[in-house]
Amino acid sequence: MSKIKRHLITSALPYANGPLHLGHLAGAYLPADIYVRYLRLLGKDVLWVCGSDEHGAAITIRAKKDGVSPKVIIDKYHALNKNTFDALGISFDFYHRTSEEIHHKTSQDFFTKLYEKGDEFIEKVVEQYYDVAFNQFLADRYITGTCPKCGHTEAYGDQCESCGSTLSPTELIAPKSVLSGEAPILRETKHWYFRLDKHADWLKEWIETGILDGKQHHDPNSWRKHVTGQCLSWLNSGLQPRSITRDLDWGISVPLKDAEGKVLYVWFDAPIGYISATKQWALENGKDWESYWKGGEEVELIHFIGKDNIVFHCIVFPAMLKAHGDFVLPRNVPANQFLNFEGQKFSKSRGWGLEQHEYLQEFADFPNKEDALRYALLRTLPENKDSDFKWDEFVDFHDKDLADNLGNFLNRVMVLSHSYFNGVVPPAPSNWSEPLQRVFDIVEQWKTEMEKFSFKAASQSFMDVSSWGNTYLQENAPWSLYKANPTDPRIAEIMFTGLQVSAILAIMAEPFIPFTSKRINAMLGLNALPAESLRLFLNESVKQPFISSGSLLGTPEVLFPKIIDRKDTSRLSIIEKQKAKLQAIMEEEKDTSFPPLKPNITFDDFAKLDLRSGIILEAAVVPKADKLLVLKVDLGFEIRTIVSGIALHFSPESLTGKKVVVVANLEPRKLRGIESQGMLLLAERGTGELVFVGADQPMEGGWVVK
Ligand code: MF3
Ligand code: ZN
Repeated sequence: MSKIKRHLITSALPYANGPLHLGHLAGAYLPADIYVRYLRLLGKDVLWVCGSDEHGAAITIRAKKDGVSPKVIIDKYHALNKNTFDALGISFDFYHRTSEEIHHKTSQDFFTKLYEKGDEFIEKVVEQYYDVAFNQFLADRYITGTCPKCGHTEAYGDQCESCGSTLSPTELIAPKSVLSGEAPILRETKHWYFRLDKHADWLKEWIETGILDGKQHHDPNSWRKHVTGQCLSWLNSGLQPRSITRDLDWGISVPLKDAEGKVLYVWFDAPIGYISATKQWALENGKDWESYWKGGEEVELIHFIGKDNIVFHCIVFPAMLKAHGDFVLPRNVPANQFLNFEGQKFSKSRGWGLEQHEYLQEFADFPNKEDALRYALLRTLPENKDSDFKWDEFVDFHDKDLADNLGNFLNRVMVLSHSYFNGVVPPAPSNWSEPLQRVFDIVEQWKTEMEKFSFKAASQSFMDVSSWGNTYLQENAPWSLYKANPTDPRIAEIMFTGLQVSAILAIMAEPFIPFTSKRINAMLGLNALPAESLRLFLNESVKQPFISSGSLLGTPEVLFPKIIDRKDTSRLSIIEKQKAKLQAIMEEEKDTSFPPLKPNITFDDFAKLDLRSGIILEAAVVPKADKLLVLKVDLGFEIRTIVSGIALHFSPESLTGKKVVVVANLEPRKLRGIESQGMLLLAERGTGELVFVGADQPMEGGWVVK
């Protein structure tokens, strides 16, 4: 028997420095909304908090770029994001902001508590990048350079957004200050470090086995593999003390005398934002915040996030909470992977992707636009691997699932009930639940999927119920019975069953497509969702009808007019416009990034090239040559020395073991006094990104490439 009495759900606090796109929605907000709505259906005590993350260099950089104060930026995007979430039915219980006084105080108190423990922090004087022209230390985000792991040329000092690696600024190749554009210098400064290393052992046990303080805290198999995997790879490479203060003039001041001009690191204060949001919510609603955060086994804490936030929510924040004492730790962190958009990463600078508020504007005339989007994203959720949002699939999900399956079933039930029974639910047959056995089984499976955070699978179960309904109507053909004998008692049975399935669908729709759920409800003439019947069934295995005999139905309506409709092309043209926008971006980039073709060569010309696969054994920088690396490459029959101009793209460490294709019969030539015995094949994207040709292939050294 579960001891859980309260559910505390959080979604990553989005930075208030810009609008959010569909990838964010699919990452941390839609899944949480689905889960929370599900728990509310079951009548659980749920609190879902979120809010704007208003500190950190991302905000100050944006403010500098726009030439305004950070306050102007955060006010603008806090309001935009909050309203957009609202419009999409993202039903937070509380949407807070980290610029609030209560948050500053809560964060400072948290810091002080850890500080006073004496052994949670260390104080260190370190060398950090400093921008001489701007006279200030540079936060990690203020430094860009080439990612040592993947070669992306615009990685930040804390993270590469291309490959997702966590970085420190000194790892960047060819660092540059975002402020002046100059190379920064190193200068001394004092900071406070949180002793993550002290927490490594219990963290490892907790993540690997689910055991915390000697007790089973959660089932480790219930965590997604990619989440546990990322945590263990961190833990296995050893935890280091992590600096939690910064030299910045925007943020929460460090509450110590000798810390003037320093603020808490944004990743220290932001997760505490979950706590301060709970406090503010409790104040406004006469509740007790501690019963959520300090409720021990009675509380289920779940963090919904994207995969770039895993380490902070599974390692750093839990360590902070444990160091503080009394707080609950997350039972699960169902992080999502990334959503791509029509085959490519979302990119603000390229204009690739779609922002949430843009969707709402551009789909203003699209019927049921909120649920159409929610459903398409739901079917594409990157739960276990990266996934891809495609307009063609959006159309399919809409027309096949929502219109042909769900909409069609409900419409048929409504229209038939109106014509056979004047819109009154017919009497229940004595064995009313018997034909519904299959539906009840699917609903139970749906429950399991919802509780495992497998929302994609759960949406399939939802559709399965609707398909079952369509098949049931088809097979029992009440219209034929009616034609033969309008008073045949089987007609009432069939319609009663169809109406039960409709009411069940209204409930199952609620977490996924809540706007539609309301409309189905109205169509069925119900004032409220028949959630009580669901609770009785799921919690106590008691079956009672979801809609009762004698009640009056509402008016049938078409829930999802199809996109592909020869008589009305208005909806398709909204989609076509989106596709055309993307096409235009690609056309424009084509002009700049595709050099003209060289003149044709003969096959014999080509055959002169001797291409071999190789494996990089070691790599080192060439002194005084910024761009060159010297590599030892194993070609199977011999080891070659190759000098390659890729130093600005790859760090030497990242190259060992890499598979490459080598031009093996290129005449040797000397570069900086080193004889280069071949050349590596790389593919270059217009923007300057480089990838190794053949790197993903299962080659050994020395295979012939032809
Ligand atoms: N603002 C961060 C991001 O967008 C997420 C912060 S989550 C919190 O990546 F836990 F710190 F709040
Ligand atoms: Zn990278």
